[in-house]
Amino acid sequence: MRHKDKFEIVDGVAGNARITGMVSVVLLVLLIAEAATIPLIGQLRGPHIFIGMLLLGPLALKFFSTGYRFARYYAHTPAYVSHGPPALGLRLLAPVLVVTTVALFATGVALLIVGPDNGQLQFLHKLSFIVWVAFISVHLLGHLVELPGLAMPDWRRSAPEAVRLAGAGPRILLLTSAVTGGLVLGFLGLAVAGSWLS
Ligand code: HEM
Ligand code: HEM
Repeated sequence: MRHKDKFEIVDGVAGNARITGMVSVVLLVLLIAEAATIPLIGQLRGPHIFIGMLLLGPLALKFFSTGYRFARYYAHTPAYVSHGPPALGLRLLAPVLVVTTVALFATGVALLIVGPDNGQLQFLHKLSFIVWVAFISVHLLGHLVELPGLAMPDWRRSAPEAVRLAGAGPRILLLTSAVTGGLVLGFLGLAVAGSWLS
């Protein structure tokens, strides 16, 4: 059983998709909260920085789980090849989404470190946000329908056989660790945000 759990985590296409689905729900909720701080950024800089830094934990897990599927597919692992790649449109969009997401978060962290006196960096953060919104909107719409089926089953203790999949515990632990790591980063962000909050 122990071996089977490990096998599902390491090689299981379905387990991989469930991790991606679960962490995507966390991302969705936190991104909505982050977006809600934008219209009142003057008063909500603290929450913006905290949630932005917190997002880095789940985001790292998302990059890890999708990067893992990507690597396994291109390494010709049979299970991942027979499952196939994402739908063509989403597959083409994925690299641009990753690049714009990295730009958005990198400029956010850079702003936090550099402080309020860098107009160019503020412009780049805003610009990357505008470009990112276009791509994340398509990504979100493209994946919304499959999201509940991926994100919910691991939480159902009395799920029917067909829905059960070994490794639910480790997957939930992975998700919890990502959020905990994010929380640490969130508090760390606030600790160095003095110049933005004074
Ligand atoms: C900054 C935010 C995000 C980034 C960088 C990101 C990135 C990615 C990438 C690169 C993939 C693999 C390619 C693909 O299947 O399209 C993926 C898959 C996926 N994403 Fe996102 N994503 C983000 C947010 C979200 C959100 C908010 C949702 C909620 C709807 C979501 C739901 C999904 C789903 C369901 C999959 C497919 C899982 C699978 O079947 O393996 N993502 N994401
Ligand atoms: C590590 C994560 C992040 C950090 C540390 C961060 C930090 C900051 C800081 C310090 C500002 C300047 C606030 C001001 O001018 O008063 C800012 C502005 C902004 N941030 Fe972020 N941010 C992060 C992530 C994000 C994300 C994920 C989004 C989008 C969902 C976003 C969207 C924006 C926008 C649109 C502005 C400009 C608001 C305005 O001036 O009207 N940021 N951010």
